[in-house]
Amino acid sequence: MASLIGNNKLSLKNQEFKDQTIRSLWLKGVDQLKKYSITDSALECELLVRSALGYTKSEFYSHLPDTVNEHEMILINQLIQRRLIGEPTPYILGTKEFYGIDFNVSKDVLIPRPETELLVDLALAQNKEGCLIADIGTGSGCIAVSIASHLPNLKIIAVDKSIDALRMARKNIMMHDMMDRIDLVNSDLLTAFKPGLKFDLIVSNPPYVPKDIYETLDKEIQLEPTIALNGGTDGLDIIRCLLQQANTMLSDGGSLLFEVFSDNSNEAFRLTSELIPMSRVTMHSDLLGLPRVIEAQKVL
Ligand SMILES: C[S@@+](CC[C@H](N)C(=O)[O-])C[C@H]1O[C@@H](n2cnc3c(N)ncnc32)[C@H](O)[C@@H]1O
Repeated sequence: MASLIGNNKLSLKNQEFKDQTIRSLWLKGVDQLKKYSITDSALECELLVRSALGYTKSEFYSHLPDTVNEHEMILINQLIQRRLIGEPTPYILGTKEFYGIDFNVSKDVLIPRPETELLVDLALAQNKEGCLIADIGTGSGCIAVSIASHLPNLKIIAVDKSIDALRMARKNIMMHDMMDRIDLVNSDLLTAFKPGLKFDLIVSNPPYVPKDIYETLDKEIQLEPTIALNGGTDGLDIIRCLLQQANTMLSDGGSLLFEVFSDNSNEAFRLTSELIPMSRVTMHSDLLGLPRVIEAQKVL
């Protein structure tokens, strides 16, 4: 009798997942993510379901009416649960797209943000083909790889203080077959380089969140490395050092481009004019109209 009940239960359970289609699991997941106020829940859930099933976007949409097997259903639910307890989707998937390119990511690196693409646009607009470029605080390597993928004849030195970040950057540089064009250096900003070395372009997305704001950030953002975000008391500790060092390491006519926190961008602009005195300083805004990147071009 007991085994009969057990079998009935099993067949009922089988029935439960037999009825589940990719569409129904996706929609159920979207509802759950919405309840946790996760914006873009439809896209995030699509990415999670696709990752569990190994589907491209078009395969996902063409297979929506298909039923899943038990293993697939468990896998999809596990990924959605991880998202619901606050793990960012790129860390669950292990990848994030930036500038149209896929990058491996883990908790060792900042998740590349779309607003940083402006830095890449501005770097590419300088057309420094054949020049020497430094990417300071490379993290996943997303800025260096994106620039190098559009300018095939330049050399980039990608720097990070975090060895774990450099490991991830190496993985990405290898994946995109750029080992011969991007060198990795473990350094505190530019301190590892010989005095006298000059860069034609220095790009950086430094840690710039003021300490008191950092402490109030969502738990989800605080899962990202502290070293990637916390910019000290006023958020400008690293930027101050970067400006002082860049002043002596930029070639004549060379430029520094760095991302800023919009709240302290005026002070960052003032500091740039003070610490790189022989330069033309420009503030660039992002698509939302927020000050996002400061450019200092050394005048000849
Ligand atoms: C905001 S993240 C930027 C990562 C990546 N470039 C991006 O845009 O996604 C800042 C990076 O700077 C690195 N960093 C922090 N302080 C540094 C320092 N003093 N010298 C070099 N790198 C540093 C962190 O490890 C982190 O990878």
